[in-house]
Amino acid sequence: MSAALRLDGVGFSYGAVAALCDVSFDVAAGERVALLGRNGAGKTTLVRLVAGLLHPNAGTVWVGDWDTGGRAPEELARRVGSLFQHADQQLFARTVREDVSFGPRALGLPAHEVRRRTEEALEALALGGHATQHPYDLPPALRKLAALAGALALEPIVLVLDEPTAGLDRALRAQVADALREHAERGAALLVVTHDLAFAAETLDRGIVLDGGRLAYDEPLAALLTSAERLKPLGLVPPTVAALSVALDLPGRPVRERDAAHTLARVAGGGPGL
Ligand SMILES: Nc1ncnc2c1ncn2[C@@H]1O[C@H](COP(=O)(O)OP(=O)(O)OP(=O)(O)O)[C@@H](O)[C@H]1O
Ligand SMILES: [Mg+2]
Repeated sequence: MSAALRLDGVGFSYGAVAALCDVSFDVAAGERVALLGRNGAGKTTLVRLVAGLLHPNAGTVWVGDWDTGGRAPEELARRVGSLFQHADQQLFARTVREDVSFGPRALGLPAHEVRRRTEEALEALALGGHATQHPYDLPPALRKLAALAGALALEPIVLVLDEPTAGLDRALRAQVADALREHAERGAALLVVTHDLAFAAETLDRGIVLDGGRLAYDEPLAALLTSAERLKPLGLVPPTVAALSVALDLPGRPVRERDAAHTLARVAGGGPGL
């Protein structure tokens, strides 16, 4: 089966500033990938390339069998749902519901399908109670969630999200994690830029790290998060559970809370686990 997303030798420069250089990787349907790296590593540039807001100077970005090169963002929205770093400023309709339904309507879907997708996306992010509010009457965290709901409502084959949990509290982060897992289970490929490594550990499976615009690592996220010596030069700090797992030398080095609790209970001989 072909990849949902494929970058093949991708390079991009802003004038004289090289932001990405020879980046190649594939993401399959249903895969959950964290895109990591220090400030300025090229993560947002990569997101903009996948969403079609920028086009590569070298190489090709494929979404399914579409070369994104000749395509406008509106066309790519049939396959790519995106959330940008300042997503809370992305909304423009008079109500949250209208904003979330904009994408499905723009795709030309029948009214009942627009309604289904809109209501499902609102529900997935617990925004039902805010559906009739004006987006700018909501706090920034909920505005961001509304923008994410808009991306989910496209039911795209690729979801590319830039810092979806920045500024969210623990409960909202869990909400986002659940919604993303559900979309991945239904087959969406997830590419999620995040500095929130605890969120990444709980929600995502594979880690791609950019360093100075180049691909530095591409491997199971758990392996990366338990490798402090490799994270440190990249300005990344292992999340607590991963650090604990290493410090206690837990078998399998779990990085998720639940897995670590099970393993701890087992090695402590304290019964069947949680
Ligand atoms: N509009 C622009 N014009 C010129 N240079 C830019 C522009 N946007 C980004 N850059 C440069 O491109 C490089 C990659 O930037 P990018 O925003 O993709 O990084 P990032 O990994 O998203 O960083 P952060 O974690 O701070 O969001 C950096 O050197 C940045 O200064
Ligand atoms: Mg960025």
